[in-house]
Amino acid sequence: AKIRFIQPDGTEQSIEATPGRSVMEAAVGSAVSGVDADCGGACACATCHVYVDHEWRDRLPDIGAMEASMLEFAQGVGPDSRLSCQIKVNDALDGLVIRLPLRQH
Ligand code: FES
Repeated sequence: AKIRFIQPDGTEQSIEATPGRSVMEAAVGSAVSGVDADCGGACACATCHVYVDHEWRDRLPDIGAMEASMLEFAQGVGPDSRLSCQIKVNDALDGLVIRLPLRQH
């Protein structure tokens, strides 16, 4: 599935992500800047915070309890915020648009 990562300055990278892995892993594996992922995907750091394009927001599985409580520690959280380690890639997400935050800390 192709995922489009858009930086705050508008720079865009289109990444081929492997189904079953997380959006965070796709970003880190392709050196997309802006995703720190300090905890390595354990939902324990909130430094993989991203904004999901609003057209895609409702097409993702709901935010789980752990993700919701961890998101409170992210910077600049808004209605489109998600933790990218908690979004699993699948073919239905082909074309997903992810915006990176200005910073993670
Ligand atoms: Fe730490 Fe996502 S990588 S919460």
